Amino acid sequence: MRPESGMRWLMGTSMGAGLLAGVLLMGGGQRPAVMTVEPPTRAAEQPQRAVQQPAHAARLEAPTATLVTASVAAGANTNDGVDSDGKQRQSARPWTGSAAEFEYPGRDQTLQIEWVMDALRIVPGAVVADIGAGGGWFTVRAARRVGPRGLVYAEEILPKFTNYIERRARREGLSNIRTILGTTSDPKLPANTMNAVLILNAYHEFDKPLSMLKKIRAGMKPGGRLGFIERDDYALRREAREAYAKTGKIKRRVDERPDNNQYTDDHRLAREIVEREAASVGFRKVLTSSLRDDHYIVIVTRD
Ligand SMILES: C[S@@+](CC[C@H](N)C(=O)[O-])C[C@H]1O[C@@H](n2cnc3c(N)ncnc32)[C@H](O)[C@@H]1O
Repeated sequence: MRPESGMRWLMGTSMGAGLLAGVLLMGGGQRPAVMTVEPPTRAAEQPQRAVQQPAHAARLEAPTATLVTASVAAGANTNDGVDSDGKQRQSARPWTGSAAEFEYPGRDQTLQIEWVMDALRIVPGAVVADIGAGGGWFTVRAARRVGPRGLVYAEEILPKFTNYIERRARREGLSNIRTILGTTSDPKLPANTMNAVLILNAYHEFDKPLSMLKKIRAGMKPGGRLGFIERDDYALRREAREAYAKTGKIKRRVDERPDNNQYTDDHRLAREIVEREAASVGFRKVLTSSLRDDHYIVIVTRD
């Protein structure tokens, strides 16, 4: 995250949320046969602003789950920190700016956060982790949802954010929040504990994503759900599909080009990359759904 971009980064207004497309890999062996699913047309890429989320999610569930399972069976690159060219995986610079930047008006609607919590099965009494929690925007929402019988772990690599969240929890009277100071390879979650985990606009900053995912998985209960909310666009998805079709390996690239949007630098990560990296450490995909303003959510589960 570029500090100078501040709130503008979060307020992306560029158009185009996607329908799903991907690479369907069939058969076993080192270099599987590759069948490319026709990419969506530009028209089909227009945002689905009035998505009836639960129905939408159900509609997407079956075909996308097939795609990701097949790609992993074909042998994705699980070499953490190194992409298919042997270079360091690209990640965005971690955000070091103000926690207040994440509190912009309308974020609940843009991210459809109530639906997201439903889809992650965050219910009263649940135990939840917010990984890369920043100022705790999601932490406090999850804490209100799980109530006094539940618990929310707010994990960060920067003490300034864990300190901020502790002050915020006191200020907002939320006694069911615990902070964790993690590292870039280990969120230090208690084992086998989480019913739900969300990585909100942070996964593109992880420079050791697979190490993080393996540890997150170990912190989850069987049947628990993990969500990733990121932003992408059609060009980035196509690039990810083409790189994978060519090499059979995940090529991670975060798009840090400033776009023409006055509110945002890009910091986009193709949803295909998230799906494949999650699958490569053993998660099973539940759904991928477009949110607003180019955001999407990928939800996976620990069986
Ligand atoms: C753009 S901020 C998003 C904050 C918050 N999730 C939100 O959306 O309101 C990304 C956060 O991820 C954190 N981060 C980056 N790499 C991380 C890692 N490997 N593990 C945990 N947090 C990380 C950064 O410190 C930063 O606070």
